[in-house]
Amino acid sequence: MGLPASGKLTLQDTISRVVHVDDRDRLLQTLKDAAATGKDYECEYRVILPDGRVRWMEQRGRCMPGADGQTVVTRGVSMDVTQRKQAEDLFRLATEASPSGIVLVNDRGRIVLVNTHAEELFGYRREELLGKLVEILVPERFASQHPVHRAQFLAAPTARPMGAGRELFGRRKDGSQFPIEIGLNPIQTPDGMLVLAAVVDISARKFAEAEALQHQAQLGHLSRVAVLGELAASIAHELNQPLSGIVTNASAGQRFIDRGDCNISELRDLLTDIVADGRRAGDVIRTFRGMIKKGDPTWQRVNLNDLVTNVVRMLNSDAMLHSCELKTLLDPNLPAIGGDPTQMQQVLLNLVVNAFDAMRDTPLSHRKVVIATERNGDGAICTSVRDYGCGIPEEARKRLFDHFFTTKAEGLGMGLGIVRSIVESHGGTIAAENVEGGGARFSFSIPAEKGAST
Ligand SMILES: Nc1ncnc2c1ncn2[C@@H]1O[C@H](COP(=O)(O)OP(=O)(O)OP(=O)(O)O)[C@@H](O)[C@H]1O
Ligand SMILES: [Mg+2]
Repeated sequence: MGLPASGKLTLQDTISRVVHVDDRDRLLQTLKDAAATGKDYECEYRVILPDGRVRWMEQRGRCMPGADGQTVVTRGVSMDVTQRKQAEDLFRLATEASPSGIVLVNDRGRIVLVNTHAEELFGYRREELLGKLVEILVPERFASQHPVHRAQFLAAPTARPMGAGRELFGRRKDGSQFPIEIGLNPIQTPDGMLVLAAVVDISARKFAEAEALQHQAQLGHLSRVAVLGELAASIAHELNQPLSGIVTNASAGQRFIDRGDCNISELRDLLTDIVADGRRAGDVIRTFRGMIKKGDPTWQRVNLNDLVTNVVRMLNSDAMLHSCELKTLLDPNLPAIGGDPTQMQQVLLNLVVNAFDAMRDTPLSHRKVVIATERNGDGAICTSVRDYGCGIPEEARKRLFDHFFTTKAEGLGMGLGIVRSIVESHGGTIAAENVEGGGARFSFSIPAEKGAST
């Protein structure tokens, strides 16, 4: 079927008659080399049967020049290895189809098969890898230990992931390294144990993990920055009122002096207000320092009626500027609450300033803000600020208390956010509604101090 056991035909003729055209040159070269060296040869080639079928042959033998010096005599055996070849082809196709890089290693650690994906992963051509020790693919810092791991695997060969929790790296031809995961499978063959290593490049996953971590860190940083930003905005917002009060009063004082009609008692009043505003600014800063330090606020018994009266006194000049009447309706039997007076003052100031703003387009004769206190049935005290302004626009209703939400060109959108956090930190609630007859009412309820009656 293959080459005759002894040559009567020329080698060329015989090969041309039966051997597959693609294998002829290789076989001829093998035989010529064997004839020249007199060494044993081994070659696999395909033959075409008379009926056109193709069979794989394996031939081993020795060839010698004939006595005439022209012919070649071959002695050896030929075996039909078609079945084995078909199985090998199937195996190769299967490994090629694998999404992993496949490296098949024999029990001496030599690479006997790689698929195209493994070539791409490690940057070698197949022929550069076949027959090499598998350590060629292992980073140098691990390579010396690798034969030990190989021996351990062969001693107890079971299919399992390699590395047992260690981070694994592959080494490319150019020396660069990349993170991998490896699944090991022992394959028992007549020629001994082979180990099939399925290699997956996990660079993309590692990169994504690192990115996610960085993201988290950035988010943490951003939220800290956001908190600081809000705090800074709150401080700026709350200091704005006393500072503009100081500037207004000081400018008025300057005008008195410039005009030469310096009325000492008026000047004294202005200076008293300036001192009060300065103190208030100091109190605001102290309150924020307290919030940052997470210490208890300066908790005291607070009578909300006194507080409202105080705030009205502070805002009287503002009310005049806005041509606005500032009225109070105070429940004479109001129990005290436990709270921080500066913070409660901030709540009222913010609500009243918003009320003034809301009445910019209200006819002068209708501009009125009413601050009322009353005892709720449930033991809480309700304080409300009602205006006769534009009312709360429908689209603003849900976001009123969000930080940085504002419908005003010059607004920061901090006022109501601050108000709500203060009210809630006092165990209270706040609500806003539009009122029949025009305008809005903001009311907050704070539980009365236990056992308090005044
Ligand atoms: N009394 C009110 N009547 C109608 N709308 C109001 C009233 N109070 C608040 N609003 C609406 O709620 C929004 C948010 O108020 P908030 O006090 O939080 O911020 P702001 O007043 O706009 O700015 P600032 O930070 O200077 O206080 C206002 O822009 C306004 O649209
Ligand atoms: Mg405001």
